[in-house]
Amino acid sequence: MRTPIIAGNWKMNTSIDEAVALVKQMKDALDKISGAEKVLCPPFVSLVSVRELIGGTSIKLGAQNMYFQDKGAYTGEVSPLMLAPLCQYVILGHSERRQYFGETDEIVNKKILSALNHGLSPIVCVGENLKQNEAGKTTEIVTGQIRRGFADVPSIDNVVVAYEPIWAIGTGKPATGAGANQVIGLIRSTMAELYGEEAASQLRIQYGGSVTAANIAEFISQPHIDGGLVGGASLKADEFVAIVAKAAEIKSSLRKPV
Ligand code: 13P
Repeated sequence: MRTPIIAGNWKMNTSIDEAVALVKQMKDALDKISGAEKVLCPPFVSLVSVRELIGGTSIKLGAQNMYFQDKGAYTGEVSPLMLAPLCQYVILGHSERRQYFGETDEIVNKKILSALNHGLSPIVCVGENLKQNEAGKTTEIVTGQIRRGFADVPSIDNVVVAYEPIWAIGTGKPATGAGANQVIGLIRSTMAELYGEEAASQLRIQYGGSVTAANIAEFISQPHIDGGLVGGASLKADEFVAIVAKAAEIKSSLRKPV
């Protein structure tokens, strides 16, 4: 059985003080929720402070990016060696990194390999843009990103994938539950071809794109969807707690034999 995983991607928001205040607002309520893994992904500069605050709780920590090299003359970059002692997860290949910072599938591939080598669990983002979606190219784009991103990656045991259609990110126009489930099912079958049925059936795949407390139920009740990668709504303590609570409740009720 796959444990649902809800991650808050704060993107380039919050000062250190604001990050600390936000964690204080949600920490106790989040900690109490069982049946879902909870991950906060604040900006790099707040990782240390957030780590201290969530110490001893069930809340986990993730970074939003990293470079694939261990160390050296790469001004401004953050290494997996710096992140590994701090956090368990790292978001890789987010569409904003691909769009604004030129990240290709080949770069994402190097980052996945590097993260896994250093014991970090990557949350690997894939997704098509509006033009590609309207041209009926979603399957081709998403499976291509998976195949190239995971080239030579030996195992997906410690991997999470996030399907984030770009047209749904920050637009208030989420995919439908059924639509997201279909693409995520396709990601799972591509992974089954690459890693076998067993590994693919254990892989957790999130949906991301305008997830809110009002619509999480639609996504989490789908058979292939194992959680959410939440942007804007993860910056509001009550909203994020409500998303996690609903996800945990719905997934565990679906599991109960009737
Ligand atoms: P929003 O939830 O703000 O649409 O962002 C989704 C996202 O990109 C999470 O990584």
